[in-house]
This record gives sequence, C-alpha cells and structure tokens, in this order.
Amino acid sequence: MAGAFRGGFTRYNGCVSFRIRPFQQAEFETLWRMDQVCFDPQLAYSRPELAFYMRRPAAFTLVAEGDGPEAGTNGGSAGRILGFIVAEAGRKTKTKTKTGHIITLDVVPEVRRSGVGSALLHAAEEQLLGAGAATVELETAVNNMAAIRFYKQKGYFVEKTVPGYYSNQLDALVMRKAIGSSGDRVIGSSKDR
Ligand SMILES: CC(C)(COP(=O)(O)OP(=O)(O)OC[C@H]1O[C@@H](n2cnc3c(N)ncnc32)[C@H](O)[C@@H]1OP(=O)(O)O)[C@@H](O)C(=O)NCCC(=O)NCCS
Repeated sequence: MAGAFRGGFTRYNGCVSFRIRPFQQAEFETLWRMDQVCFDPQLAYSRPELAFYMRRPAAFTLVAEGDGPEAGTNGGSAGRILGFIVAEAGRKTKTKTKTGHIITLDVVPEVRRSGVGSALLHAAEEQLLGAGAATVELETAVNNMAAIRFYKQKGYFVEKTVPGYYSNQLDALVMRKAIGSSGDRVIGSSKDR
C-alpha cells in the first residue's frame, strides 16, 4: 500500500522531506486537530464523525510524516505529521463500476505547495486501484478554490454540483477521475466535503 512512497522519503521542489505511511490509532487526536485547522467550523469533522469515516470497513488512512528541519518552528518537521488522507474503496456506481472515494485530505498550512497533498493523493489512488476501483470521486465546497485547483491539476473533472450539500447552506462539487484499466492510470476526482 501507499505505492511508491512506502519506506522512502519524498522531496518536492527540494524543500520538504516526508514519507507516506499508514495511520496509527494513537495519532487520531493529531489528525482531528489538523482537520479543525484545515477546514472552517461548518465543514470540519467532529471527533465522532472523523472516527466514523476512518472506521468504515473499506476505509483506510495514510499520513505524511516529516523527516527534516524544514517545517514549523517547534523543532522542525522530523516525525511530525504534515498531512493525512482518508479514502474508501468499494463504492459501486449505477454502472457497477467500483468507485473509490476520497473522504478528506488535509495538509498543515506551513507545508502547503510542497507536494504533500500530491503524494498523499497519489498513494491513496494507488491503493484504491489495487482494491479494484476504476474511478475515484470526491466532494469539495464550491468556494474551496485551492482544493478545486489542486484536484483539477490531478486530473479530476467536475461532474455535478450538489446544492446545499454542507448543512443545507453551501454547495458541493462532485469531482471524478478515472484511474482504472484504460491505461489512464490515476487520471483525475472527489472528497466528502
Ligand atoms: C488542497 C490541499 C490538500 C493541497 O495540498 P498541498 O500539499 O498544498 O498540494 P501540493 O503541494 O501537492 O500541490 C500540487 C498542485 O496543486 C495545485 N495547488 C495546490 N494548492 C493550490 C492553491 N492554493 N492554489 C492554486 N493551485 C494549488 C498546484 O498546481 C500545485 O502545484 P505547484 O505548487 O507546483 O503549483 C491543501 O491546500 C489543504 O489541505 N487545504 C485545506 C483542506 C482542503 O481543502 N482539503 C481538500 C478538500 S476536498
């Protein structure tokens, strides 16, 4: 799992060094706090919500763990969790194709634009592909321009808008990407918010 990033460290733009690995239960509180930082209160998960999604039978969580002095002011990034992704395999669409789902993707503000989000998404897509998913989907808020640009850059396309998806107040974009057997591996889109 975690594709090419497992066991090795990745650098992007020569600045942040990190590795992707599976989440450990003791890290739950760290991940939940990160989620509070990454999302507005309207969108951030409560502890039970995050735990619920992470514990779903086909769900998995990967973290990016820092390996250098680059990020942050409290002793650098070594050993620090810089981001995480929760994904779920096994959703079936109307056409019976297996669809993976990105539940959430969070990167701490200090290391954004350093490739951490890209590495987490790529590792999750590889794992979803291994689980038989042909496509990946997610939801993101219509006003989250950073996420929309990020996912479009990763090959996701906007499938539709869901009015009032968030608390009946904020619309969501459903984004989708084909990752399957057409040879177009890990092409472009989705999250629960
Ligand atoms: C969206 C998010 C996960 C991106 O993570 P990241 O580690 O900064 O992403 P990367 O560094 O891998 O970015 C890869 C590319 O995506 C695009 N991108 C990422 N953030 C962008 C931004 N704020 N504006 C425009 N393009 C952006 C760029 O093309 C970028 O490549 P570049 O830096 O070489 O130009 C991060 O901003 C985040 O955690 N945001 C808050 C939580 C959130 O919105 N999650 C997604 C909700 S669905």
